[in-house]
Amino acid sequence: MIKIVILGAGNVASHLIQKFHKIAEVQIIQLYNRTIEKLEEFNHVAPITNNSEEILDADVYIISVSDDFIEEVAQNLISKKGIVVHTSGSASIKRLLPNENIGVFYPLQTFSKNKEIDFSRIPFCLEAKETSSYQVLEKLANYITDSVYPIDSEQRKILHVAAVFVNNFTNYIYQMGSEICETYDIPFEILIPLIQETSNKIESLHPKEAQTGPAKRNDKTTIANHLKLLNEKQQHIYSLLTKAIQESHGEKL
Ligand SMILES: NC(=O)c1ccc[n+]([C@@H]2O[C@H](COP(=O)([O-])OP(=O)(O)OC[C@H]3O[C@@H](n4cnc5c(N)ncnc54)[C@H](OP(=O)(O)O)[C@@H]3O)[C@@H](O)[C@H]2O)c1
Repeated sequence: MIKIVILGAGNVASHLIQKFHKIAEVQIIQLYNRTIEKLEEFNHVAPITNNSEEILDADVYIISVSDDFIEEVAQNLISKKGIVVHTSGSASIKRLLPNENIGVFYPLQTFSKNKEIDFSRIPFCLEAKETSSYQVLEKLANYITDSVYPIDSEQRKILHVAAVFVNNFTNYIYQMGSEICETYDIPFEILIPLIQETSNKIESLHPKEAQTGPAKRNDKTTIANHLKLLNEKQQHIYSLLTKAIQESHGEKL
């Protein structure tokens, strides 16, 4: 049995609480959050507290708070022997110092509090200062996912930049697509199967191979027609991405 305390009540913490609560081999012995009211919905899972002096002794402390406050929350665990981890993609393991037994338990996925998620497919990127602690984190992760990777803080920083491209920027592009649809009174949902096929395709094709469209074909008439339909900001991003795609596919500009 692995005894854990989860610190935080946001998007990631809420999902971890619900998932670990269902795992017989893991016991959530306590939940901590600065704002106690946000933990009330998890009253049935474990005792809740917002008093850092009341934190119980556990095998693993999972700190899942805003990146800027990881250090502050970790300070409350200095007297503890258990492994202190955070769940951030961008924060170094060093943010948990001067705790001695430290690690990272980073789920590489986007979480929203009220959106259900299939944990079994989420890659967990793990790091620990001690080998024995890594093994505990690996065991813990294996209860909830089929996908575990040893990733150190340097690699995780790089992975996080790549994740910003494939998730945040792509999502912003979806937003632009939806704004264009709204401008011309077309329902955005028509594009959803295309969005899904675009992401499904890269399970079997390299993104470069999967690329299609007027930029790759260098279809100048279509590109010029598209630009006429867009506002200034949309034109700027369209031109930037068109140029990048053409350069990547060896088009002479
Ligand atoms: N969301 C994602 O998709 C995602 C994915 C992977 C990893 N992560 C990482 O997981 C961690 C949590 O992210 P999240 O999206 O779950 O955050 P979130 O929903 O914004 O929740 C923030 C949490 O941090 C706490 N907090 C904020 N300021 C604090 C302070 N000054 N002192 C103590 N606690 C404070 C909040 O407590 P209150 O309730 O009191 O405000 C809340 O529990 C971050 O390290 C993030 O990088 C997020």
